[in-house]
Amino acid sequence: MSELQAKHLKDYLAPAFTISTLALDVNLFPNATRVIATSEFNTERQGEPLLLDGDGLKLISVKVDGKPYAYELLPGQLKLVNLPAHFSLEIETEIDPLGNTSLEGLYMSDGAYCTQCEAEGFRRITYFLDRPDVLATYRVRVEAPKAGFPYLLSNGNKVDSGELPGERHFVVWDDPFPKPCYLFALVAGDFDLLEDSFTTASGRNVALQVFVDKGNLHKAHHAMVSLKKSMEWDERRFGLEYDLDIYMIVAVDFFNMGAMENKGLNIFNTKYVLADVETATDDDFHGIESVVGHEYFHNWTGNRVTCRDWFQLSLKEGLTVFRDQEFSSDVGSRAVNRIQAIEVIKNQQFAEDSGPMAHPIRPQSVIEMNNFYTVTVYNKGAEVIRMMHTLLGEEKFQAGMKLYFARHDGQAVTCDDFVAAMEDASGIDLSQFRLWYNQAGTPTLKIVDDFDADSGRYSLSISQQLPAQAGEGAKPMHIPFALELLSADGKSLSSQVLDVKLAEQRFEFTGFDAKPVASLLQDFSAPVKLEYDFGTSQLITLMRHASSEVARWEASVNLISRAIWANHDALGAGEAMVLDGRVADAFRATLLDEELDPALAARIISIPSINALIEQVASVSFDHLVHARHYVLEELAANLEDELLSKYRELVGIDSPEARALKNACLAMLCRAGLCPEALVQSQFEQSLNMTDSLAALAGAVAGEMDIADELLGRFEARWKDTPLVMDKWFVLQSGRQDNDTPSRIRALSHHPAFSLQNPNRVRSLIGAFAAANPVQFHRADGEGYKLLTEYLIKLNGLNPQVAARIVTPLIQFAKFDAKRQGMMKACLNELLTLPELSRDLFEKVSKALAQ
Ligand code: TRP
Ligand code: ZN
Repeated sequence: MSELQAKHLKDYLAPAFTISTLALDVNLFPNATRVIATSEFNTERQGEPLLLDGDGLKLISVKVDGKPYAYELLPGQLKLVNLPAHFSLEIETEIDPLGNTSLEGLYMSDGAYCTQCEAEGFRRITYFLDRPDVLATYRVRVEAPKAGFPYLLSNGNKVDSGELPGERHFVVWDDPFPKPCYLFALVAGDFDLLEDSFTTASGRNVALQVFVDKGNLHKAHHAMVSLKKSMEWDERRFGLEYDLDIYMIVAVDFFNMGAMENKGLNIFNTKYVLADVETATDDDFHGIESVVGHEYFHNWTGNRVTCRDWFQLSLKEGLTVFRDQEFSSDVGSRAVNRIQAIEVIKNQQFAEDSGPMAHPIRPQSVIEMNNFYTVTVYNKGAEVIRMMHTLLGEEKFQAGMKLYFARHDGQAVTCDDFVAAMEDASGIDLSQFRLWYNQAGTPTLKIVDDFDADSGRYSLSISQQLPAQAGEGAKPMHIPFALELLSADGKSLSSQVLDVKLAEQRFEFTGFDAKPVASLLQDFSAPVKLEYDFGTSQLITLMRHASSEVARWEASVNLISRAIWANHDALGAGEAMVLDGRVADAFRATLLDEELDPALAARIISIPSINALIEQVASVSFDHLVHARHYVLEELAANLEDELLSKYRELVGIDSPEARALKNACLAMLCRAGLCPEALVQSQFEQSLNMTDSLAALAGAVAGEMDIADELLGRFEARWKDTPLVMDKWFVLQSGRQDNDTPSRIRALSHHPAFSLQNPNRVRSLIGAFAAANPVQFHRADGEGYKLLTEYLIKLNGLNPQVAARIVTPLIQFAKFDAKRQGMMKACLNELLTLPELSRDLFEKVSKALAQ
């Protein structure tokens, strides 16, 4: 069981051996690829044994300085002793890419070879020091048959190629930048290739290449445009240029995550590359732009400066998410992008932070590293960077970035090194701020305000409460608290950022004629929860007049959530449900506001999901919540029926993502409330020339449980059965159906010709989406939802542990549910725990959940 033991940050030791260069010779065969790895080792701690990581390898031979050398094979390690201070180590291994369903290391995706080495996948290719603080330069020779594998790719620059006997060929790549092995990549296959180029600010000409499956060239343009935009933006906003002569992106069907920033050779999930208007929605286009940006930005924040150890993952991920969010905000709508980011924190990260997997953005202990590519490390990590940006301002923040690169280019460093650079460049004390890296859980700010009419003084008392997850002896955090004060008729009176640093703190403001309306924690200036007794009229004022568009959205979320919870409580007390007419009026005003960006209006009028609502409370009566939410939605839609329909008609035919967003938000609300004429959905489905509108029509028919839903689903399936990424959307709709046949329908669909348990995108669409986005069926009172997920987790445990551990999340977040549901969820988790070959990935999550 030693494999299942946690590793701790406090046990970090610098490596005894370093590796200056690695020559890798990869001779590709589907079931028996031969890898010869020749590394130059150095040590200043001569006498220590060398322990190399390895996993699932067949060892052929070991040579030191050209001669066979004695070794010992331990579980997961190869041990060599009595080594000199400098030596060359040659190791030959054999691996089985075709049999690799975990999609880590070297594997095959639809006939092409590709790799995924982050976090600890390189050890499935050869024995190595598989840790991010060992940096070497790579020279890689790839050999494969000419037929089927015309492209042989790796990191860096192509330096040699040639023909070989037996209809084989080879290419040699050289990467001049020292890198850790998690950034190694290799691809071999046949692709369509889209080519372009970019000239950097200092005049370097960079060849840009996007490789996609044959027949998909027309779907690669948006990714290429996004790449050029990203390169231009990073020069303009951060002064950062690309550093090699070539930048390649390869899109593959089988991929565990979104994409991977391997040096000069990014590997992407096809979902984040392929798009045309017929097959991709406006949201898909936006997602591609942001992921292409994210991977590109890693070239500086991740590759040129990398992590000392995996506990520091947020050093590169939090920072790079912050950078991709800023990119999306600079080239698109800042408010809409901010709202999206806030929703991820409130709806997913808060849940993680209060559940069994709660961890600080720099975790202190880890069993399986793959389990820590989380919304906490990525998205809360980005909020922590954003708070530093708020505290320092753009200019000093950029000075901090410059200093960070000046100090650490080419190094593997820690989160502390980053904060120190920010501190030193700005002169701003971040000592208390550093607690954000150590303390898990979401702080709550309790706020009481008061207005004294005689003196015209307004005061805010803020008390900071830390949750149990923050750990024993947790200290108050440094929280930048953005505040806008408005007059009752919505004029902005003042805006500022308060430094909240104490457990209890009071702020006073003078010179008011009447009590101001406070917009608190504006734009979500810190990832914390607020407890404040908002009044309906205050929320309505904010929703209509706050100068921040994000604050207007937040006020709407608060307003509608309060209405839903009031009815949830009414049901519990056996009282009748009601909806204050002012709520509908506020929504009407938003709908009719011609000044508002329609994409923002679409956000403001949408009703929070059941999962989002659950995150607002400590415990929930699930059936009452579902009932109350549906009541409020129906009341609102009934009240606004005319306006929703006329707004819909006004926007039909306007060809912009913003107009489509609002039009389809109106459609969704009408459909869910059972108020949409079938003919309207049918005509949008039939006349639409783009996926955004056809999918919205289909989703409306399904959500409204219309008679035509099955017919339309059938037509969609017939048209798109051979386009996997579109079938994913169809699987998501099927897994999201509200009727009680959903679990059995999902079982039947798992035998659909377009479905495969080996493909992570398919699994996420049919199984993952069911658990994460269909709470009504997942949390069915009879437990059928939990059983369904468990059934598939058992199959996935053996096939792809990473994906299994990702989609188990809703099953481990049981704390807010009633005892009966909790009992059923825990029974499923116990069943998983007894699996004979339970993966480390699932073991960590399931055992932490059951230990609660
Ligand atoms: N570093 C990648 C990113 O954020 C994430 C990633 C891609 C990943 N594939 C992975 C992480 C596999 C763990 C395992 O851009
Ligand atoms: Zn990343």
